[in-house]
Amino acid sequence: MTKLGEVYSREEFDAGSLEKAVQDRYTQVAERGVAASGCCADDFGSGCCGEDAPSAVVADILYESDDLEVLTPEAMAASAGCGNPIGLSDAKPGETVLDLGSGGGIDCFLAAERVGDSGNVIGVDMTHAMVDLARQNAVKLEAHNVVFKLGKIEAIPLQDATIDLVISNCVIALSQDKDRVFDEIYRILKPGGRFVVSDMVVTEELPDEIRSSAEEWVSCVGGADLLSRYLGRMERSGFVNIEILSNVPMRSRSDGTDYASAVRSVTVRGWRRD
Ligand SMILES: C[S@@+](CC[C@H](N)C(=O)[O-])C[C@H]1O[C@@H](n2cnc3c(N)ncnc32)[C@H](O)[C@@H]1O
Repeated sequence: MTKLGEVYSREEFDAGSLEKAVQDRYTQVAERGVAASGCCADDFGSGCCGEDAPSAVVADILYESDDLEVLTPEAMAASAGCGNPIGLSDAKPGETVLDLGSGGGIDCFLAAERVGDSGNVIGVDMTHAMVDLARQNAVKLEAHNVVFKLGKIEAIPLQDATIDLVISNCVIALSQDKDRVFDEIYRILKPGGRFVVSDMVVTEELPDEIRSSAEEWVSCVGGADLLSRYLGRMERSGFVNIEILSNVPMRSRSDGTDYASAVRSVTVRGWRRD
């Protein structure tokens, strides 16, 4: 296993071990309770950028303090998102919510508060250590309406047309097949259902050395789509009424790179036709 913060080689990237690099990184995040890099907007201050940033800092930045009161420190400890999709959604009592790349479960637990006992929440993540952590957190929080499944967002382990609302927080940028992810979201949403996803995107193509760096990929930057391409994938999958709900800078301009200002975190909503 690679060390947190280690720079992956180009050979590893070319060998197709990117998925393993993502799992290694997020196993370390789960085990050490620290955030992945690339989590920090200019407006957020200087505390949370970098692999060793405590995730409680990330959670404090992304979420309302009232929301965090219902969580345990462990549930906040692996927070590695770049937005607040559940906060920008209108999840209603009784709904079924799916969180793609649920990590330690933070957005699932916040969704569970909103949908109540008559609703339910499903988290899907491909990293064993994250699913284990999320399940432990669910026990500590007595979150009886939340389940966590091991699985990939490119092949969601759920039946067609079963979900009211799909959320995701800083995950689709990590996928090597984003078209497939949006096709899968369309498949499992009920007719008239919607998604609200937060993700890293860029406003101009990043240099080749960034896009071909596995280290940048696992930090959600190397695989970040151009915003226009990202929105185009949603349309291609059939979604309608696509709206950008938030759009903020994500890399400090003082980090020494000339592409920093092109990296953004967006939260986007789209609807499956009735
Ligand atoms: C940046 S973390 C975000 C975790 C969580 N959404 C949060 O806000 O704290 C990315 C998560 O997505 C998971 N992940 C990445 N690619 C995935 C894929 N293709 N299928 C399923 N899970 C994936 C990782 O294991 C990790 O837990």
